[in-house]
Order: sequence, then C-alpha cells, then structure tokens
Amino acid sequence: MTFSCPFIIIVKDYFVNQTIVAFPRFLGERFELLGSVEIINSQLIGTGSCIPDFVLTNAMLETMVDTSDEWIVKRTGVRERRIAKNTHTWELALGAAQNALADAGISAEELDLILVSTCTPDTNTPNTASVLQDKLGARQVGAVDINNACAGFVSATDIADSFIKAGKAKTVLVVSAETLHRITDYTDRSTCILFGDGAAAAVYRATGNENVGIQSTFIAADGSGAEYLYMEALPVEDPFAAERPVDPKARFLKMQGAAVVRFTAHAVPLAIDTALQRAGVSADEIDWVVPHQANLRILDVIAKRYHLPKEKVYVNMDRYGNTSSASVPICLDEMRKNGLLQAGQTIVCTGFGGGLTYGAFVLKL
Ligand code: COA
Repeated sequence: MTFSCPFIIIVKDYFVNQTIVAFPRFLGERFELLGSVEIINSQLIGTGSCIPDFVLTNAMLETMVDTSDEWIVKRTGVRERRIAKNTHTWELALGAAQNALADAGISAEELDLILVSTCTPDTNTPNTASVLQDKLGARQVGAVDINNACAGFVSATDIADSFIKAGKAKTVLVVSAETLHRITDYTDRSTCILFGDGAAAAVYRATGNENVGIQSTFIAADGSGAEYLYMEALPVEDPFAAERPVDPKARFLKMQGAAVVRFTAHAVPLAIDTALQRAGVSADEIDWVVPHQANLRILDVIAKRYHLPKEKVYVNMDRYGNTSSASVPICLDEMRKNGLLQAGQTIVCTGFGGGLTYGAFVLKL
C-alpha cells in the first residue's frame, strides 16, 4: 500500500515485511523551487560541442566521385564537412557533454536525466547514454538513447522538457552525437557530398520563470516515407540457411533526395507553425530560426515563408554539412559562443529527416 503527500511517500512492502520511507527528491525540489506556482519551464543553461578535426572538402570529394565543388555548393550549400576518423560516437558525445556542463557551470552529479540522440551508435546495447553516464561520472540516473534521425535533438528536447515540467527531473543533459561517415557510401555522389560528423549538447534546468525557457514543443512522424531515407540495422534473414550472405553496402544510408525535399516543403512549416501557435508567438517575434542543416535551399524556403531576412536563419552547413541530429545543437553552441544569443530573444529550432520525422520548439532566452 502507498500513501503519498507532497513531501513523503511511505511504501509498505508486504514481501519483506519491511517499511521503506523514501523522500521523493524531485517532487520535493519542485515544491521547494516553486512554492504554489505551477509553472515550470526548462531553461537552456549551457551548450557545448565536439567537432572532429579532419576536414573533408569538396575538392577532395571531386577526386572520389564524379562531382564538382560548383555543383555541390549550388545544390546544397556545403563546402566542407568534418570526419571523425577512428572515433567512437560516445567519444564525441563525451566531449560535447563535458563542454556543455562546463558552460552551465554544473557537475555531472547534478544531472537527473541523460538523453542521447544518435542514429549512429557504436553499439545497439549498451546504449550510448549509458556509456556516457559512466564516462561522465554521473549518478545512476535515467540514461536513454533517442533514434529520431535529424529530428533527434528536437525530440530529445521535447522529452527533457516533459520531464522537467512534470517535476520528474530538475536538470537534464541532451547530447546529439553522430558519426555519419560510418553509414555513408563514398561511391554514391548523391549522399556522400551531404553528410559530416559532430556532436553537441544542451543542459536544461527547471525554472519558475515563465518568460524564459522552452515555450512549446511539437514532434511528429510520417512513417509512410520511410524508404526515402533508409539504412538497415540488422539483416532480415533465415538464421538456419546454409549461406548467410553479407551485403557490405547494407549499412549505408540510401536517400531519395527529391522526395525528401518535397516532404520538408510541408513538414517544416507545419512543425514551426504548430510550435509558434502553441507558444502564442507570432512570426515577427522570432529573433532566430535554428534549423537542421539539411540543404541551403530548404533553409531559404523557411526564411521566405516567415518573411525573415536570410540572416535570421542560422547557417553553418557550409562548414559542417548535414550532421543529422547534431546539427541544431552545434548551431546553438556556435551562436552562444559567438555572442549571437542574447537574453530576451525568441528562438525557433526545427529538425526533420529520416522516419520521416519532424518537429520544432520555441525557446526564450
Ligand atoms: N554531383 C554532380 N551531379 C550529381 C550529384 C553530385 N554530387 N548528385 C546527383 N547528381 C546528379 C544526378 O545524378 C542527376 O543527374 P541526371 O539528371 O543525369 O540523372 C542530377 O544531378 C539531378 O539529380 P537530383 O537528385 O534531381 O538533384 P537535386 O537537385 O534533387 O539535388 C540533392 C540532389 C541530394 C542535393 C537534393 O535532392 C537534396 O538536398 N535533397 C535533400 C537531402 C536531405 O536534406 N537529406 C537529409 C534530410 S535530413
């Protein structure tokens, strides 16, 4: 039997005939923090990134596939991308997490939840978040991986915000880490020009100030478009067959680029519109749109749709390419370090990609 009140939970365990008294830590903190006020927001208190050193330029790609710098720049906006040679995804995640914790001025022991978004984990089990929990020296808190492709950071932020708003966590680390070179076919000119590696992290903390933090979130998926961005994890096979052929290209990402562009044309405005509406924010209040860095032409469409000058849609894909879920937090960290993010600003972040998945959130600084 369980009796609960805001400050104490008493559990009678009939199996061992023992009374356990547990202090509900987060619930207690919620009341301590907010008194009778019922609004909790998730404030961004730190960011960090980990960018590999090796630079893969368009000129290098010209020697690998039938392409040109001119074609790549014109069709995608990418000039170079980073490659994490001989590096685990968790190593990038750890670097990003440590930098974010330092930026937030907190220790790993203060974390109540660790979320890692990646579609390029080193192992299916353990998940990357558990590896990170150990390497960071965090307490044995929840550590969960989210595979939502390029919408991964937005989705993880939604979950972090939900935990904080529910009073189940006070401080949450979200890390997006990708080693996309491991799933890239460097003989396929339609994909290898786009992708790069990198990681970035955000620390969110509960605040009772309704004017700062995550104002709204929205995530969605349309699985009918699964084939447009497709990568096999484990082969479907007969385990008792005499021969079990291995396709060396099975792990590579296959993409129908034009279909993805068509999907983004309706999914991205839908995500942004919904997040804005839920936050009660109008387009002319936006200081920055921080979009997933998929293709410069898609980002230009966003600027036009919301009547924003191009400079308000943050772009760094010329230097990093598409780093999947890491792209939005890499932007946020870069903007923060360069002094582009200021208190009082309203930011819209949006992610979209494989699944097909899409989403957005509105953040007030
Ligand atoms: N260099 C030179 N030519 C290339 C090329 C390259 N790297 N990649 C493709 N081409 C060729 C194609 O083979 C095709 O040639 P063809 O007409 O002789 O058959 C031609 O360029 C046009 O191909 P198409 O795929 O229609 O080009 P596009 O304008 O759609 O641009 C992408 C291709 C990949 C740049 C574009 O579709 C895109 O960016 N899609 C979205 C990708 C994305 O965002 N993915 C991740 C989402 S998270």
